[in-house]
Amino acid sequence: METKIQNITPKSLQQAKEILLGGGVVAIPTETVYGLGGNAFCDSAVQEIFRVKGRPADNPLIAHVHADYDLSLIIDSEPAYAKKLRAAFCPGPLTLVYPSTNKVSPFVSCGLNTLAVRIPAHAGAQALLKEINLPVVAPSANLSKHVSPTSALHVFDDFNGKIPLILDGGECTGGIESTVCDCTGEVPVILRPGLITKEMIAEVVGCCEEYVPALRAGEKVKSPGVLYKHYSPRCKTYLFSEQELALAFSVIEKEQSEGQTVGVLCESDKRALFEEKGVETFDLGNHPKEMAARLYGLLREAEKRCGTLVAIEPTVRGGVMSGVMNRLKKACQSQDIAH
Ligand code: TXA
Ligand code: MG
Repeated sequence: METKIQNITPKSLQQAKEILLGGGVVAIPTETVYGLGGNAFCDSAVQEIFRVKGRPADNPLIAHVHADYDLSLIIDSEPAYAKKLRAAFCPGPLTLVYPSTNKVSPFVSCGLNTLAVRIPAHAGAQALLKEINLPVVAPSANLSKHVSPTSALHVFDDFNGKIPLILDGGECTGGIESTVCDCTGEVPVILRPGLITKEMIAEVVGCCEEYVPALRAGEKVKSPGVLYKHYSPRCKTYLFSEQELALAFSVIEKEQSEGQTVGVLCESDKRALFEEKGVETFDLGNHPKEMAARLYGLLREAEKRCGTLVAIEPTVRGGVMSGVMNRLKKACQSQDIAH
């Protein structure tokens, strides 16, 4: 299959609509990361997404809708605090998990009696969703476990020959996936941190909790995605805190002595420390939003150029850094010798 990359035009939107209505999948831009979209009402389209991505069958998908979509078509009820959150942050990088039964394909929520819903802010995504006027399920458009895509070329790298169309909406400005917030209980609970922070949610509705997966025997996990290895570049990765710089240098030396090309991912003001020793660096920037926007692109660049990537934990804290750290830790999980 030939994979076309098309700018967003009335013609390419029509092509995308036809593919989606025919039960196919199309990669679409959003303000967070690119998504692999399919019609949420169509069993075979939803199954195709799982197949193409190699996604575990128990990890549910987010339904994306346009800003004027009638949510009662896909959810059972909406608590008052969720309405407030929607008014404050949507369209935007916030996914709300609602009670929902038997309204979209059963493969979307993988047996959970909830549905995750997001109204993306990206103009291209809104245009497509308005055009099709159906909920479009869209996980991040990367092969399962690989780094999420923030450009059309990232999607192409993972899915060339496997999907018919990538709508190119430019680089994603957000850079990490939406905040996932459970709205099935008394208070909102963050299941996945992101650009809409706990503090921002608490400011609108008075409180916000964070989900910590501590499973007891027989208990079902609330958001299966938290259990999986994620966002991993295809090179060896290490993660060190600022207090562990000496250890980082010894690992770099050891890896180099074994013939590996080593790169360092760090804040702008740490780069000189490594560059003066001849080590290539990948510049995260200095500010939380900048780091979120750059992280995945840098991980994808690093895996192409390096055999080993040593990441240094940013010292900036607060706000969207909990989302950035959540992704960075997962990306480096496999080889993390220090923690
Ligand atoms: O920004 C985003 O959210 C991107 C763009 C494309 O919109 N999408 C995305 O989808 O990140 P995905 O499938 O890569 O991540 C969805 C996350 C997973 O951790 C999944 O477990 C969780 O949302 N999720 C989906 N449905 C859920 C549900 N009903 N209850 C709890 N968690 C859910
Ligand atoms: Mg994902």
